[in-house]
Amino acid sequence: MSERARFVVVANRLPVDRIVAEDGTVDWRTSPGGLVTALEPVMRKQGGAWIGWHGAPDEEVERFTHDGYSVVPIPLTSSEFEEYYEGFSNATLWPLYHDTVAFPEFHREWWDAYVVVNRRFAEAAAEVADEGATVWVQDYQLQLVPQMLRELRPDLRIGFFLHIPFPPVELFLQLPWRRKILEGLLGADLVGFQVAGAAANFLRLVRTRTDHKIERDHVRVGDRLCHAKAYPISIDTEGFAALAESPEVIAEAQALLDDLGHPKTVLLGVDRLDYTKGLRQRVRAIGELFEEGRLDPAEVVFLQVATPSRERVEEYKRLRDDIDLLVGRINSELGGVGRPPIVYRHAGFPRATMAAMYRIADVAVVTPLRDGMNLVAKEYVACHPGTDGALVLSEFAGAAKELKQAYLVNPYDLNDMKDVVLRAIEDPVEERRRRMRALKRQVKTHTIDAWADNFLGDLEKLSRR
Ligand code: ADP
Ligand code: F6P
Repeated sequence: MSERARFVVVANRLPVDRIVAEDGTVDWRTSPGGLVTALEPVMRKQGGAWIGWHGAPDEEVERFTHDGYSVVPIPLTSSEFEEYYEGFSNATLWPLYHDTVAFPEFHREWWDAYVVVNRRFAEAAAEVADEGATVWVQDYQLQLVPQMLRELRPDLRIGFFLHIPFPPVELFLQLPWRRKILEGLLGADLVGFQVAGAAANFLRLVRTRTDHKIERDHVRVGDRLCHAKAYPISIDTEGFAALAESPEVIAEAQALLDDLGHPKTVLLGVDRLDYTKGLRQRVRAIGELFEEGRLDPAEVVFLQVATPSRERVEEYKRLRDDIDLLVGRINSELGGVGRPPIVYRHAGFPRATMAAMYRIADVAVVTPLRDGMNLVAKEYVACHPGTDGALVLSEFAGAAKELKQAYLVNPYDLNDMKDVVLRAIEDPVEERRRRMRALKRQVKTHTIDAWADNFLGDLEKLSRR
């Protein structure tokens, strides 16, 4: 292994995915999801090494340099992709940690693959990290890595951050391997969560299900301490705002409005196509508003974009079909011959196009059933010019704890969602401005830099030996 790093991020995903086209040509594309959006600017600033999977099973890729830091690709076989990634990570942990909004499956072979792959990541980190370096392990796919890495390299400073919710005790206890996951996380010096409730869930589990002693926000693990605290993640607010103000994005926003026929009101949804994002409920609620004549399809368009995600996992296939059917039915029943009331694209878009969409959206509708944070909500606030936009936000997104001036909704209550969407459109402009001013203040003062500085500053203080 070449050159060792003083700062190492370990995440299931790399910032870029390796895409091999049918003719064999290779391309690298920005990876999907909030983790990459958040960590990329941190790595550009910090430098060091990012260890992760490059998105293509059965392929070995050499270490390379990207945006000034080192990228260390970890291979996965096809069967590990099925059992560790699609299986244990995304059909066991993902639904379990998101309030079981889908049914979690428990399979012993999936767990075995999870252990094998976590060990591979831990060994790679042990090899890449310099003496006394800081290693920051990310997210639910790698919860065993802190303990495995600690055993291999006791000299390291180890942090862990969970990007998704940490479930209430009653749900976590379903997991046959619950104790091993807790011990895995306790290998870190500092475990960060999105919200205080998640850190409290973790500490309560440690108190009731392990022999470790707890004092306030820390656990005694042998002769060291593991701290657990909330660090709400954010975005590169300035970077997003500057992008949205660039001449290219302003021109793209204009072209988008031309394509949509300059409606009076644009409602916008932006998500990975994931059942936790509340798309079924959102489309039904807005569809009913059109059907009942409370929204006029001649004046209002609902633009929904959804990045393809985890496409071979059953629940995701079902969701894709359901949304296609639902949107098709609503549009065929309501649309005239021109633009349909719901413009739906199942695709990922470049960041500049996302910024253009945020610019033209009068109302962003962000209604997950459960979400660790939800960066889309913050991106909208950062990118929308002026203060006359409105954010409709689910109470069950971590972001609702900070963006309190959003129009908050319970996404399970369709009537409430319909009323709140209408209120966000129809409220007097002064009321919308008052709310948006407060939201903008929040995202300007709580940036990704502040998040990384807080976490890494605490990690250094708390693990000082
Ligand atoms: P998650 O991490 O669960 O995907 P977040 O809302 O925190 O959810 O982050 C999603 C990220 O993916 C955001 O940075 C958003 O801009 C990006 N994104 C979502 N949908 C699309 C899309 N259709 N095209 C491009 N980027 C998208
Ligand atoms: O933030 C949640 C998260 O699951 C990340 O861990 C992940 O990188 C991202 O969303 C996208 O999911 P996936 O990596 O499975 O495509």
